[in-house]
Amino acid sequence: MSKIIAITGASSGIGLATALKFAEMGWTVYAGTRNVERDQEQYAHQANLHFIKMEVTSPASMETAFAAIDKNHGHLDVLFCNAGFGFLRALGQATMEEIHHVFDTNVYGVMHTIRAGLPLLRKSDAGHLVATTSVGGLVGQPLNEIYCAAKFAVEGLLESLATYYKPTFNIDVTLLEPGAIATNFNNIVLGHVQKTGGILEDEYKPIITQYLETFAKRNSVPQTSESVAEVMVKLMDMDPKPLRIRTSEAAEAFVQYKVSQDPTGLDGMLNTRKLHLNM
Ligand SMILES: NC(=O)c1ccc[n+]([C@@H]2O[C@H](COP(=O)([O-])OP(=O)(O)OC[C@H]3O[C@@H](n4cnc5c(N)ncnc54)[C@H](OP(=O)(O)O)[C@@H]3O)[C@@H](O)[C@H]2O)c1
Repeated sequence: MSKIIAITGASSGIGLATALKFAEMGWTVYAGTRNVERDQEQYAHQANLHFIKMEVTSPASMETAFAAIDKNHGHLDVLFCNAGFGFLRALGQATMEEIHHVFDTNVYGVMHTIRAGLPLLRKSDAGHLVATTSVGGLVGQPLNEIYCAAKFAVEGLLESLATYYKPTFNIDVTLLEPGAIATNFNNIVLGHVQKTGGILEDEYKPIITQYLETFAKRNSVPQTSESVAEVMVKLMDMDPKPLRIRTSEAAEAFVQYKVSQDPTGLDGMLNTRKLHLNM
């Protein structure tokens, strides 16, 4: 029987590339999108690929989606929480509305997805929960503080879940940590900056000017989303499954000083499990 994966944010970028790759490999793929008709029409030729409405900021939307998967299969093998977007503004510049918007999708969206999907994942013989964070979930970066705070939150969430999901529910937990990927991500970030006044004439202007100068150099060779999908494929075969995995050498080099003692995160997590649960 083919394995079943549900992916949030599968209308483009990493989520779409992963959905297409896994469908091509014969997995049954539930690709979460906010526009089912458009995406189903575009990929109608692709067997095993089912677009399904998933608005991660809505618990009701997520519950409806997993109820449909439950009805069709009764279980789920891999839950990939991938929906998200970046945000570039200083804490002192952003409105509280913008900050809530970032957290609604990038943090609460992941919580809604896990809360709705967990009962189905528990019914798998061997479940796997994966969330896309970022190297920005490990290393704070200038003017990305709100996005980094959101991704750090997801790192904390899954690191905590990992301490007991495997021994309790037989569910592995992994944080997928990309560096720069060539997707809509940057256009959305920069589009929002443009829509909200561009580079503002304020005390942050010298910093943002400096940041944008180095940004152009740092992102010269972004990874493709297809290559991130390949990392997802490799991850499925790993035993034991890492708690953390970077998606490229560049991402690994960037976070190296933070993770060099425990690159997969397993040693630290198992130590906490032992200390707190004696397992
Ligand atoms: N690209 C990078 O450089 C990079 C680096 C590190 C981490 N990441 C992370 O990678 C993940 C995927 O991003 P990407 O690079 O593939 O960008 P992307 O091409 O813009 O894809 C983002 C996906 O998330 C979906 N999404 C956004 N808000 C949503 C919501 N409220 N409910 C449901 N779906 C929502 C988008 O759907 P719509 O099409 O409907 O908007 C889209 O399918 C994100 O978590 C991002 O933070 C990206």
